[in-house]
Amino acid sequence: MIVLIALVAAVPLAAQKPAIDASEYAARRARLAKEIGPNAIFVAFSPKLQIRSGDQEWPFRQSDDLLYLTGIAEEETTLVMVPGDADFAEVLFVRDRNPQQEVWTGRIPPREEITKISGVKRIESAGRWRGFVNAAIAGGAWMSLESTERIPPRAMPNFYAAMTAGNAEVWTVNEMRSFGPNPPLTDEQEFVKDLRERFASLRFRDAQPLLTTMREVKSPAEIALIQRAIDITEAAQKAAMKRVLTATSENQVDAVVDFTYKDLGTCCWGFPSIVASGANATTLHYMANNAPVDRGGLFLTDLGAEYAGYSADVTRTYPASGKFTADQRAIHSAVYEAQEAAIAALKPGGHFRDADHAAIAVVGRELLRLGLITKNEPRQVYLYFRHAPGHHIGLDTHDVTDRDRKIEPNMVFAVEPGIYVRKNDVVASPVYLKLTKEEQASIAKNLDRYEGIGVRIEDNVVITETGAKLLSSGSPRKAEDIERFMASAK
Ligand code: GLY
Ligand code: MN
Ligand code: MN
Repeated sequence: MIVLIALVAAVPLAAQKPAIDASEYAARRARLAKEIGPNAIFVAFSPKLQIRSGDQEWPFRQSDDLLYLTGIAEEETTLVMVPGDADFAEVLFVRDRNPQQEVWTGRIPPREEITKISGVKRIESAGRWRGFVNAAIAGGAWMSLESTERIPPRAMPNFYAAMTAGNAEVWTVNEMRSFGPNPPLTDEQEFVKDLRERFASLRFRDAQPLLTTMREVKSPAEIALIQRAIDITEAAQKAAMKRVLTATSENQVDAVVDFTYKDLGTCCWGFPSIVASGANATTLHYMANNAPVDRGGLFLTDLGAEYAGYSADVTRTYPASGKFTADQRAIHSAVYEAQEAAIAALKPGGHFRDADHAAIAVVGRELLRLGLITKNEPRQVYLYFRHAPGHHIGLDTHDVTDRDRKIEPNMVFAVEPGIYVRKNDVVASPVYLKLTKEEQASIAKNLDRYEGIGVRIEDNVVITETGAKLLSSGSPRKAEDIERFMASAK
């Protein structure tokens, strides 16, 4: 424990905690309101608690879009916006304070606090959202329970006028949240289904594309939160590099990662940590994190702390011994060069595909040099580089994306080329089987040489007017810097 504290205490984090001001949430809602217009009603729900087993629940995590629009991380929150009726332009339904419940599950924030965080002035009880929506659609009365004012017979006359004219629109966020062949309907889908059956004249619209457009470009406050998540993640990377030197199991390295997150003031990860020794590093989303440390092998940690909802995504690959072998270093350098090329290709007005092409070209060139392919062509390169070289980060690790949009300043990306040598997969692949016997033999001998080596280097960049600026420069990523750092930790 003493060792851990010493490792973590050395990390400088700005004393001032970054945060998003209520005025920024208000501006986001104002922009959304303008986009959806005066004939709209917008409804966004928080997700239901999920059962882990028996009567145990997974910790609650607010939906990205509710967090984005309100900053409220509480369960049972519903945001309803009726932009055409000023008194009800934004209403936030939240749980009431409840001393009996708070004894068990903790404090429920009072309404003034919800207003202070979100900037929404009209706060109502969680259970009343449905009655409110019904009043909007049916042109009925609606009033706060606390109100002593006279209740007008029609609360939202402008939306109701749109309703009777057949112009009313219901906007929800149809994010895909369920998987599998017959996924249960989300709250949004159930809500829309019910209204569709009852009101033939209503039109239903998906707000996800609008929110994607907004969320893809980050504000200075968001970038500060992402930077904090990255700083904590890089502290965890450095703690992992030190711990692996004497660890016997991946678990022990995973433990210092979790310790560092909590010690530096965040609850958790944005995605489950990938802590992979030796050939486990060739499993892209390895999550078992419990195998023995392969002392002569590489060690890969793909980590992302979440801070105030924002996720980092940084991968480092380093030798468990502290010293790369020549072959490990060759693959590591190839990936590093590919990443440098990809980062250099990211510019305003360009496209993320430019980074894909740059990374694939360098990985191909290097695989050819190492004798792992016989021609620098994508289908051979994909035998070793089997995932996209990057993605937006933000409220989600794999943040919302409009794949056709050009790059703009203040977009934030993870850039993550990799090379993964899995001999059995390569020799069984149709691409390999179509090669001549001579070509197969020349690859096979190098497959034996590099078998089980997996390297990914992943960094986070923000786009500036002139190019990409590295946000994750706080942990060593080049082979020589890694070796120097690990030697200093011995
Ligand atoms: N950690 C998941 C990813 O790198 O995309
Ligand atoms: Mn990533
Ligand atoms: Mn990652």
